[in-house]
Amino acid sequence: MTLATSDARGSVSARIVLLKSVDTRGLRFFTNYESAKGAQLAAHPQVALCFHWKMLREQVQVRIEGTTEKLSAEESDDYFASRPRGSQIGAWASLQSQTLADRETFEARIVEVERRFADQPVVRPPHWGGYVVQPDCIEFWYGALHRLHERVRYECESGEWRKGMLYP
Ligand SMILES: Cc1cc2nc3c(=O)[nH]c(=O)nc-3n(C[C@H](O)[C@H](O)[C@H](O)COP(=O)(O)O)c2cc1C
Repeated sequence: MTLATSDARGSVSARIVLLKSVDTRGLRFFTNYESAKGAQLAAHPQVALCFHWKMLREQVQVRIEGTTEKLSAEESDDYFASRPRGSQIGAWASLQSQTLADRETFEARIVEVERRFADQPVVRPPHWGGYVVQPDCIEFWYGALHRLHERVRYECESGEWRKGMLYP
């Protein structure tokens, strides 16, 4: 899904992240808390998410706006433990979003982390974990011929969801 965040000055940036799970608490994704998006989420927990399924019907788009919260350490530990070892090593070795002088520097960090955790499980780095997005607005957009698309919007006010429609 596309995840859009904004910084303290109101500049906006977007990137793709993996939607790991969805339930009544919200939509979960995992990342580096010290990444650019992590800093932005610390400044502004409000996010927008966007999904696009080009091959479904005449295209489907789902747009979500909401507020993020960090997941508990236990929840992040559980997911981290289920990840492939290479991804666990990468989570320690990558200073996500920081400037990298050359690829060799990164590869040397990977070797160093592999050495550090040789013959033992890789524990979750404290700077890596999940967020849950609590939606307050969800729009389902269904493509139709001649751009006569259908837009169904659900908005949550004081815990009550209201359904409405929008012109395409
Ligand atoms: C298909 C796809 C899935 C991705 N999933 C994640 C993810 O789950 N978590 C993550 O931190 N980055 C993920 N990335 C990388 C991000 O798009 C991004 O490059 C990275 O998180 C750094 O973003 P930032 O500098 O804005 O913080 C994914 C990229 C792609 C293309």
